[in-house]
Amino acid sequence: MALHCVPYLPFFHTLHTLYILMKFATKAIHAGIEPDPTTGAVMTPIYQTSTYAQASPGKHKGYEYSRTHNPTRTPLQVCIAALENGLHGLCFSSGMAATDAVIKLLKPGDEVLAGNDLYGGTYRIFTKIFAVYGIKFKFLPLHLPGALEAAITPATKLVWMETPTNPLLNITDIAACVRIAKAAGALTVVDNTFATPYLQRPLDMGADIVLHSLTKYMAGHSDVIMGALVTNSDALAQQLAFIQNACGAVPGPQDCFLVLRGLKTLHLRMERHCSNGRAVANFLNQQPKVDAVYYPGLPSHPGHTLASSQMDDFGGMVSFNLKGDSMDDAVAFMERIKLFTLAESLGGVESLCCHPATMTHASIPPAERAANGLKDTLIRLSVGIEDIEDILADLAQAIG
Ligand SMILES: Cc1ncc(COP(=O)(O)O)c(C=O)c1O
Repeated sequence: MALHCVPYLPFFHTLHTLYILMKFATKAIHAGIEPDPTTGAVMTPIYQTSTYAQASPGKHKGYEYSRTHNPTRTPLQVCIAALENGLHGLCFSSGMAATDAVIKLLKPGDEVLAGNDLYGGTYRIFTKIFAVYGIKFKFLPLHLPGALEAAITPATKLVWMETPTNPLLNITDIAACVRIAKAAGALTVVDNTFATPYLQRPLDMGADIVLHSLTKYMAGHSDVIMGALVTNSDALAQQLAFIQNACGAVPGPQDCFLVLRGLKTLHLRMERHCSNGRAVANFLNQQPKVDAVYYPGLPSHPGHTLASSQMDDFGGMVSFNLKGDSMDDAVAFMERIKLFTLAESLGGVESLCCHPATMTHASIPPAERAANGLKDTLIRLSVGIEDIEDILADLAQAIG
């Protein structure tokens, strides 16, 4: 099958039928990938070109200009769609650019209901960029049953879920929120960055759009910034592809190559992230100097039962507070930790430690953070895939 042709709707429906029969690891390695038709190269070449020769005006081989389509980007979009059990995938220059494209589906006066624990940059683009254009945003504890039903109105056009949430690992019932949103005529978006399709497939639960910061687990090696959207709706795919091309926040071919390479080991990496994450959560839970541990895999986590039913495992993100809730103690821990690098971001093969209040969530006003249960002393760990003995030894020495 020639993948190097203009993506058109029947083409994607045919691919969907083909890939839906494959299991996850097979899709991660093969979906969208064909030997290069001109050379036979097994790995997708980096088509580092902005434009494409035409034989006559409008007569071309499926590609005109790389903002619109690029032959390295096309297989990546197909692969991501296949992993999410979706029909259409679209890649953007960052996770935030993907978020930007979704909100551009709306118009002034439309209302978005979003979870109140979410990535700080998402909160920032909603409140500082799109609120200025008359789109209304309300933040509520979507992870609590009844919260969405109580807040939804005829003005609600979009429900924005992030689950598990960043950084408190709250779990939102995707299927229940989809039911409520659909009854009210609102679209649903799930930011699936923390879970990845290896652990959770929101389209199967009825969500309209899945969003990814591919920067994280999907690419997996902390060497690229990229985002993606996946949908089963032809109409939404057409609108989003129009926005992708018209606004132009597209990734370059070199970055697409890196994400394609990363995806081939997603299933292996996620297995190890999950087993290491579970071990870290259990370890922290037993430390006398540690207070709350936020990890949906712990039976004591309020979202544990729900997570067990809508996810296949619990991931590699663990947040916690030290007893006494002292900023000095939290800073001392973050200065002592060695194997974990103190840095923003998550989802790479290497373990990272982040301080949400000054890093990823600094753009949320302190009072709002506190009201949503995000303490300034919270420490967030992205547990990597190193040997667990080394990870636990580093945590033990940093806790002291
Ligand atoms: C859950 C979540 N969504 C979206 C984003 C934004 O992605 P990017 O940094 O690729 O723009 C992030 C970034 O940290 C994130 O953690």
